[in-house]
Amino acid sequence: MASKKGNVLIGVSASIAIYKSLEVISLLKKRGFSVKVAMTREASDFISPVVFEALTNSRVYVDVLEEFDNPDDTNITHIALAKWADVFAIIPATSNIIAKIANGLSDDAVSLLALASEAKKLIAPAMNSSMYLNPITQENIEKLKKYEFHIIEPVEGDLACNTKGVGHIADVCDIADAIESLSSEKILFGKKVIVTAGPTVESIDPVRFITNKSSGKMGYAIAKAAVDFGAYVTLISGPSNLRKPFGVDFVNINSAYEMLDELKKRIENYGDCVVIMAAAVSDFKPKRYEKLKIKKRSGNDKLVLELIQNPDLTKEINRFAKEKGIKLFTVGFAAETDNLLKNAIEKIKKKGLEFIVANDVSRNDIGFNTDENEVSIIYKDGSMERLPKMNKYDVACEILRRIE
Ligand SMILES: Cc1cc2nc3c(=O)[nH]c(=O)nc-3n(C[C@H](O)[C@H](O)[C@H](O)COP(=O)(O)O)c2cc1C
Repeated sequence: MASKKGNVLIGVSASIAIYKSLEVISLLKKRGFSVKVAMTREASDFISPVVFEALTNSRVYVDVLEEFDNPDDTNITHIALAKWADVFAIIPATSNIIAKIANGLSDDAVSLLALASEAKKLIAPAMNSSMYLNPITQENIEKLKKYEFHIIEPVEGDLACNTKGVGHIADVCDIADAIESLSSEKILFGKKVIVTAGPTVESIDPVRFITNKSSGKMGYAIAKAAVDFGAYVTLISGPSNLRKPFGVDFVNINSAYEMLDELKKRIENYGDCVVIMAAAVSDFKPKRYEKLKIKKRSGNDKLVLELIQNPDLTKEINRFAKEKGIKLFTVGFAAETDNLLKNAIEKIKKKGLEFIVANDVSRNDIGFNTDENEVSIIYKDGSMERLPKMNKYDVACEILRRIE
């Protein structure tokens, strides 16, 4: 049965990085994909197909002649498998399997499927750096790119041969992201999208600051979903522990002023673009920054901190874009604890937004630092749409579907 997210066929070849394919499969299953596996004979000597069968609840295709032994099992034939897949990803890909596919060979389950499948294809090479940098391997990889195979490049890292170098398989989350991206509809293809995320921090002295509880999860989910939908994405983020989503142009900032500077730079660079202001920007900052750490003083048990307002970033960027003749489609967020809708409607009018995403941060189960969100979307014309509670990636997709 086809899953909501799509069908992913994983081809596994005999690299020392083979265990990473198990991690990628787990991630894909958690994200709602249906997954099936095909392995080379050598790979099945490294890890038994039984492990992959347990993880995917599905038979693993290893023996190309097997289908003739089981003529009634139509699920296992290479043509049926090839047709079933929306994405075919080879994880890990040995130099051998890359060479075979680049030369049209098909004498094992993985290369056979690579030739038979019309799905989008991704290859995650993993090998010793001499093998990877060998011009023959490089030529084979270039040839595969020419035939629309997507390559997720290996990185520098520890290699099995007790050396360091390029050839270490890409990060498993990046591989899962790349597969998710390949399986997504490209409704924002070629669009330029800037997303702000996370909190800002406003320094008091070299060791102290004021900030807020934002984790960045909503903004990061929007940036990832926008990449999946085919947009060029810049993510401008305050401090966050989250992993940078694969495929975004990432900018780290601290204060509201730094965020504003980066926003202006990127808007000027992009020209007409979509800006999604999901960051929880500090409304206030200390009036004075103390260059030296503020000391406790005897006889003075009080410290009065004077705060002044930060600029309103949405207003500022809209003014900036107007001056430069740039057209923005600006989406705002309203994180409120009370009078949620009234405040959101006021903001939309005041700030020149296309629509505003309002969420109630007084609830513990949604909003700040949670994986789920339940939002309402309020439009320029005053109409409102309530979305059901969903994980933040699904909320992100719904927000992006409303961009013109
Ligand atoms: C322990 C071990 C680890 C290996 N790791 C890799 C590797 O990371 N990358 C690679 O290209 N070949 C690696 N090889 C060599 C391949 O296993 C060998 O070329 C094999 O024929 C590949 O078969 P396949 O591509 O059909 O799966 C390794 C071999 C062994 C014994």
